[in-house]
Amino acid sequence: MPAAAGVKPLDQATAFAPASVANVAVGFDVLGHSVQAIGDRVTATRSATPGVRIVAIKGVVQDLPLETERNTAGMAVLAMAKALNLPFGIDLVIEKGIPLASGLGGSAASAVGGVVAANALLDKPLGNLELLKFAMHGEAVASGAVHVDNIAPSLYGGLVLTVGIDNPVVTQIPVPPTVRCVLVHPHMMLSTREARQILSKTVELSNLIWQSANLAGFLTGCFTGNLDLIRASLEDVVIEPQRQVLIPGFKAVKQAALTGGALGCSISGAGPTVFAWCEEQHAAAIRDGMVAAFAAHGLDSDAWISPLDPRGARIVTA
Ligand code: HSE
Repeated sequence: MPAAAGVKPLDQATAFAPASVANVAVGFDVLGHSVQAIGDRVTATRSATPGVRIVAIKGVVQDLPLETERNTAGMAVLAMAKALNLPFGIDLVIEKGIPLASGLGGSAASAVGGVVAANALLDKPLGNLELLKFAMHGEAVASGAVHVDNIAPSLYGGLVLTVGIDNPVVTQIPVPPTVRCVLVHPHMMLSTREARQILSKTVELSNLIWQSANLAGFLTGCFTGNLDLIRASLEDVVIEPQRQVLIPGFKAVKQAALTGGALGCSISGAGPTVFAWCEEQHAAAIRDGMVAAFAAHGLDSDAWISPLDPRGARIVTA
């Protein structure tokens, strides 16, 4: 949540912005959900010196650009400062909790954390939709394309559908409360840019029909709490078949998840993290099976089990 209107502006604020699973198999570039288990923290401090500066980058990733225009959080906050013609400068400290090039929305989380922290410094804080547009400037730096399927869930929280880019319409989708997301991040990096460049520019009509039915079925299953419909439709027939070659052992990892009772399993964002949706009681066994399948292909991994709760980015300290 951004700081509420009427709340006294702060001189310094720290925001936590959760990681996210983009696409969720069936909604390429339009659907994503937040992951509370990990995220980035960004501290914004008012400065008498105009402009936006990245003063430090800490945490699990440190070799990111310090130049404001090349940094996702820097660009997002700079866009905000310029648009609002802020009379003060902002210094940013970024603490990365999300591994680099992991498919967990790290660049989006830094951008979201930046604008949410900076928002708490404003005399008149902005709403989420305005913050979303500024955060999009940051995401574009990282992936070379404007898409909001990581930004929107990191900012709003939960499972989020975004319709439109120039005037985005954001909807939080309810998820049955027993559903959990298992995430397994193999220790390798995949560039989003490259994972987008390999994609075909055209889609077979039969796959368009199938994927449309899957997206509609998945959302309907979520709205109605119908786990059978979620299981029947949580499958990506367009993007995953093209990208799976980038992830060693992907087929075995997916098979392990489905054998363990997962509702569905696919690539998180551009990968290499693989996610599975499942009911809570199956989550630990599915996680162990996926980790073992990666290990059988020579990859160590980190794994998390995340609820699909609707908390988005928020101020955590002042
Ligand atoms: N929707 C994007 C993709 C998310 O899959 O390329 C990664 O940033």
